[in-house]
Amino acid sequence: MAWVSESRLAAAVSNAGGAGIIGSGGRSVEWVQDEIRAAKTLTTKPFGVNIVMLDRLKDEIVELVCAEKVAFVTMGAGNPLPYIAKLQQAGIKVLPVVPSVKLAKRVENAGADAVVIEGMECGGHIGTLTTMALLSNVIPEVSIPVVAAGGIVDGRGMAAALLMGADGVQLGSRFLLATECALHANAKQRIIHAVDTDSVVTGYSRNHGVRGLRNQFADKFLAMEKSGVPDEELNNFATGTNRMAAIEGDVDDGFVLVGQSLSRLNEIMPADAIIKGIMAETIERLNAAPNLTK
Ligand SMILES: Cc1cc2nc3c(=O)[nH]c(=O)nc-3n(C[C@H](O)[C@H](O)[C@H](O)COP(=O)(O)O)c2cc1C
Repeated sequence: MAWVSESRLAAAVSNAGGAGIIGSGGRSVEWVQDEIRAAKTLTTKPFGVNIVMLDRLKDEIVELVCAEKVAFVTMGAGNPLPYIAKLQQAGIKVLPVVPSVKLAKRVENAGADAVVIEGMECGGHIGTLTTMALLSNVIPEVSIPVVAAGGIVDGRGMAAALLMGADGVQLGSRFLLATECALHANAKQRIIHAVDTDSVVTGYSRNHGVRGLRNQFADKFLAMEKSGVPDEELNNFATGTNRMAAIEGDVDDGFVLVGQSLSRLNEIMPADAIIKGIMAETIERLNAAPNLTK
């Protein structure tokens, strides 16, 4: 997660048995290198780096992760195909994030090790399909492992994805409330107090949907979008608002990016406790599943 997923959170997730990810979006190459090296001092477990394919520094960051030999890379918001072989030659597993069957097949044919299907319930940049629709559509069509993302915040969501045939899950929003997450305390409090219907998507009518919390910024953006303001003006208005909320703590004029499963996000706790809770609930739900056929 850009701006908020640093070495501390990534290492804590990996130490708890998950696969932690450092978000490189919007960061300098030096920052990403420092964070990778810091994560290596905090965990001996595998962790990954997310590379945003729209990022102007993506080539340099690909070079860096190859040199640093992180365990895996996730890549979204653009075309990952030119980078798959290079990363794999450096011993890195590649998991592109895709919003459709077509793109899932395309990255599978290009040799991706697994695919993350990300439903539009998720926080941040979204596609058009829901997680349930992606699970239904994509899983029968590919043979590489599928990781489900979007709206999953607990063991019930994880168990459901596994029963649908997913091989794993990716959670973002739930870890915004991890003690180790760098998200500003003001944004954490807004998330804690938000309810399910507080989720909005800006830019959807311009094929550039971004999901976050309804607030002063989002209301203004949506009014501008509706009134037909040109794309460029909208982009200028939105630029920097994720950082503004996440780092500076301006939760009125900044945009707090978070997914739709908001009513369950109500407590800050260590990543270890989050993962233990999710795993216990997943096992409980899966153990209860056979009763459904009796
Ligand atoms: C604050 C925030 C920032 C995110 N930044 C990125 C990013 O930089 N790159 C990316 O591929 N996905 C990003 N995502 C999406 C997550 O990686 C993940 O797929 C998503 O959060 C899963 O859905 P959920 O939010 O319902 O858990 C972001 C999500 C959030 C909430």
